[in-house]
Amino acid sequence: MRLTDKVGIITGGGGGFGKALALKFAHEGADVVVADIDLAAAEQVAAEVRKTGKKALVTETDVTDETSVQEMVAAALQEFGQVDILVNNAGISRSCAIQDLSLANWEKTIAVNLTGTYLCCKAVIEAMISRNYGKIINISSISGHTARAVGVDYSASKTGVLGITRTLALQVAKDGINVNAVAPGPILTPLFEKNFTQEVVDRLRASIPFRRQGKPEDVANLCAFLASDEAGWITGEVIAINGGAFMG
Ligand SMILES: NC(=O)c1ccc[n+]([C@@H]2O[C@H](COP(=O)([O-])OP(=O)(O)OC[C@H]3O[C@@H](n4cnc5c(N)ncnc54)[C@H](O)[C@@H]3O)[C@@H](O)[C@H]2O)c1
Repeated sequence: MRLTDKVGIITGGGGGFGKALALKFAHEGADVVVADIDLAAAEQVAAEVRKTGKKALVTETDVTDETSVQEMVAAALQEFGQVDILVNNAGISRSCAIQDLSLANWEKTIAVNLTGTYLCCKAVIEAMISRNYGKIINISSISGHTARAVGVDYSASKTGVLGITRTLALQVAKDGINVNAVAPGPILTPLFEKNFTQEVVDRLRASIPFRRQGKPEDVANLCAFLASDEAGWITGEVIAINGGAFMG
């Protein structure tokens, strides 16, 4: 087991990637904080985690709200006394042409995907610095690595996440903290199904060299590695996980 006695916060923990991340981390020996704006979804994931014998704390957290994020970290510290891992996974996606993208929707995407990442990093960083240990993993996207024909808000937010990743990695390397990003290609989760028609899904699948969409577990496996000490010499990186759809 690679994460024995570690504690990991997973934002968006009630969603597709969130569930796979929480279960993978638990199977690797970590206790987890399942943080989500959707309390019922987070509770369901936490119940699955507890079946593995590991502890799961649920927090009803809105990553766009600084107080809510601070309360998430305080609850984690109170319950477990430490936070070793933060996965900034909460995210929303929209796929429309710029003419159809309202300012309100642009701001919402940036708030959840980009500002949320900033707020969670900021809230957890002192606790990590004080222990000279931490692993932060930011979930970007293939859309942060290369272009799609639609979704400037999503693409801007996920590219911004790479800027946070590199800059924060440089700031806190001296404090024993690794900060990395992963950039998944299309993976079947509720977020994906909400945003794409079957026709688009089929077209995307055909564009992937492996001829299959990824699974949430593919992403969870990569994140477990990055969260482990085996990845201790990796920081400020963005690792693509996309079946060969984009080789940057
Ligand atoms: N599914 C894909 O193909 C894909 C590809 C690349 C990147 N991603 C990214 O991976 C992450 C997870 O995506 P997913 O496919 O599991 O999506 P999902 O919709 O299944 O899960 C996202 C979770 O985030 C939560 N959330 C939304 N807004 C929140 C907020 N303000 N505060 C806290 N929680 C909030 C939702 O309630 C949900 O549980 C996202 O950042 C997404 O952009 C997904």
